Amino acid sequence: MSIDADTKLFCLLGHPISKSLSPIIHNYSFEENEVNARYVAFDVDKNALKYAVNGIKALNIQGFNVTIPHKVDIIKLLDEIDEEANLLGAVNTVKNVNGKLTGFNTDGRGFIQALQNNNIDIKDKNITIIGAGGAARAITMTMAKDGARSIQVANRTVEKAKKIAYEISSKFQNVVTSWTDIQNINTVDMDIVVNCTSVGMYPDAESFIIDPCIFNKNALICDIVYKPTLTKFLNVAKQSGYRIMGGIDMLIYQAILSEQIWLDKKINSKLFTEKKKDIFNIL
Ligand code: ATR
Repeated sequence: MSIDADTKLFCLLGHPISKSLSPIIHNYSFEENEVNARYVAFDVDKNALKYAVNGIKALNIQGFNVTIPHKVDIIKLLDEIDEEANLLGAVNTVKNVNGKLTGFNTDGRGFIQALQNNNIDIKDKNITIIGAGGAARAITMTMAKDGARSIQVANRTVEKAKKIAYEISSKFQNVVTSWTDIQNINTVDMDIVVNCTSVGMYPDAESFIIDPCIFNKNALICDIVYKPTLTKFLNVAKQSGYRIMGGIDMLIYQAILSEQIWLDKKINSKLFTEKKKDIFNIL
């Protein structure tokens, strides 16, 4: 599709962004869904965020994503945020309607959609989340909202795990919550186990947070790390016969959900699942 006077621009603001896969995902999607738009990444540090946002308004760019380190700081520059962004206390997607900026968060929902695509419904599931950073928080809160039965949060710094577990139980009383350090993790009767730490991320691709094979054999083992696409954590699980889900799936779905917000249009996600191998050279 060629660029013309009607081509819309969408973008990512983050720092650093040189390894981001978002431009590949969005430009592929725009092409396949016949949307006359392009997506680019801007390396914007903390001090420049407000100027970047003013520039976006001046140019009437109709939507953008924010990533590390701006997911919380962006909120004070917006006019409003939606319910899910409010629950997560962070924004990754912004829609600009004539200079009025609204913030959304598609991170947790992207993970849930990726699960649904693997025919897994979160309702009544027992879940272990390893890690207690921003990604862990987004995923756990969305799972709690969607009716998970129990959520165990395990983290190296146990205080951070406790904080997330407390927050879930204060907002969602029906969810059984627990927290632990990684050594004392409960490995029995889990439906879904998710590595939400950065352990195993390139270039440290030989490390893994915990041996996934300590969990019951019918658990789905997931990783939010997507570089490498098949992390050691997932590979060890796969070799032992576990079902696995990689971080690319979450990345794809959070991107599709952002596009749906910007364009008010259903975006075909099947294209990605069918062509994932070609687009990202993976699995
Ligand atoms: P994000 O926003 O992407 O989730 P983050 O907030 O920096 O990133 O969180 C990173 C997570 O990876 C944390 O849970 C961190 O554990 P701590 O809270 O104890 O720091 C975890 N993590 C990173 N490196 C780790 C390591 N070598 N061993 C164990 N956990 C690690």
